[in-house]
Amino acid sequence: MNVEFPEKLRPIFQPNRRKVAHGGRGSAKSWGFARALLIQAAQSPLRVLCAREVQKSIKDSVHRLLSDQIQAMGLGGHYEVLDTEIRGKNGSLFLFAGLATHTVESIKSFEGVDRCWVEEAQTVTKRSWDVLTPTIRKDGSEIWVTLNPDMETDETYQRFVANAPAGAFVVQMNWRDNPWFPQVLEIERQETLRRDPDNYQNIWEGVPRRVSEGAIYRHEIERLYEEKRVRLVPYDPLLKVHTVWDLGWNDAMSIGMVQRQGAEVRFIDHLKDSHRTLDWYITQLEKKPYRWGTDFIPHDGKARNTQTGKSTEEALQAMGRRVTVLPMLDVEEGIKSARMMFPRVYFDQEKCVELLESLKRYQRSINEKTREPGAPLHDQYSHDADMFRYVGMAVDQMSNDDWGGTLKYPRLNNG
Ligand SMILES: Nc1ncnc2c1ncn2[C@@H]1O[C@H](COP(=O)(O)OP(=O)(O)OP(=O)(O)O)[C@@H](O)[C@H]1O
Ligand SMILES: [Mg+2]
Repeated sequence: MNVEFPEKLRPIFQPNRRKVAHGGRGSAKSWGFARALLIQAAQSPLRVLCAREVQKSIKDSVHRLLSDQIQAMGLGGHYEVLDTEIRGKNGSLFLFAGLATHTVESIKSFEGVDRCWVEEAQTVTKRSWDVLTPTIRKDGSEIWVTLNPDMETDETYQRFVANAPAGAFVVQMNWRDNPWFPQVLEIERQETLRRDPDNYQNIWEGVPRRVSEGAIYRHEIERLYEEKRVRLVPYDPLLKVHTVWDLGWNDAMSIGMVQRQGAEVRFIDHLKDSHRTLDWYITQLEKKPYRWGTDFIPHDGKARNTQTGKSTEEALQAMGRRVTVLPMLDVEEGIKSARMMFPRVYFDQEKCVELLESLKRYQRSINEKTREPGAPLHDQYSHDADMFRYVGMAVDQMSNDDWGGTLKYPRLNNG
């Protein structure tokens, strides 16, 4: 049999617990992995699990790719292609599964697997990897991973590329590494280069995105990094620390800690949690060695709690905090003012990691039919982004003057 492989995939036949190919479109990742697996499983009986994050039907899987490659390589005599499985005449077996629906229990049926190929792995979640990897435990078993990177911070990219396990075979493949890169794709590549240069590096060169494609603050965040405004931003004891809150009791509470120096808006710290009481948050804040300015809370801070009869504003004041309730502002207006503020903003690279992640992923809903962007999504990222919008509204009121004259900062009695 005369089957050719791209040069970069040559080590694919060497035993290795982890084999990873990442890169842009059309770089021969899928074909290479499919062919190598089919050759190995024809040589000796192997159980192969072909997995992806979501597999609604067998159509979503690499079943079709594998059966095409069986034909292309003339391996028809070795394999029997069934609707949901592929069987080797030597006892090899290819199985197909979606990881998202599996649990630690249900995935146990795959313990005998020799090869697990996770295709389109960029979308695989931490949970899925944590369920899958300890299941692939047979002697000599291998985990094969192919991905087109999306976000730099995605679990798979971090786990298998940015912090690849020691000794793993990890290769970047791009179009120029594919000796059979088809002419139709070359035309598409040129087209992207011309029409959509912002996305070119990600789509064709496999460079992970720092910001998600539909991110509302995409350009602002690119500039933030270009201008190195994500860095160590230490607390300046000569400046007050103002807090800005997005109030959430059952879902996330997000509290930004901001210092102002002239035009600069410095995010020095961030606190986020859920299912906590107000005094818990204040205790956390007051453990920090900061000189406090004003707590800015959104308009719902005036709403009274049905049990205590007190509003968040009143409760904070009772704890000795100085509070300003921000007026209600249309979301789009808020985004505009946040955008205006962006060029003056600095983020601490350690304490504001999660906040930055949220801003990178804050995006609009997309209408399924028209593909038009709609309102910003309410999701796990929107709480921090709402808080950030409120900072845009509050920033002009952030003063470094002392407040209240004689009023000191009473500490809570927290033992
Ligand atoms: N070993 C090979 N022999 C012949 N042609 C190949 C081979 N590998 C890849 N090709 C050609 O290159 C094309 C792209 O390969 P493949 O689909 O494997 O790329 P990919 O990296 O998985 O791309 P994508 O990121 O778009 O999924 C194939 O459609 C095929 O035309
Ligand atoms: Mg592919």
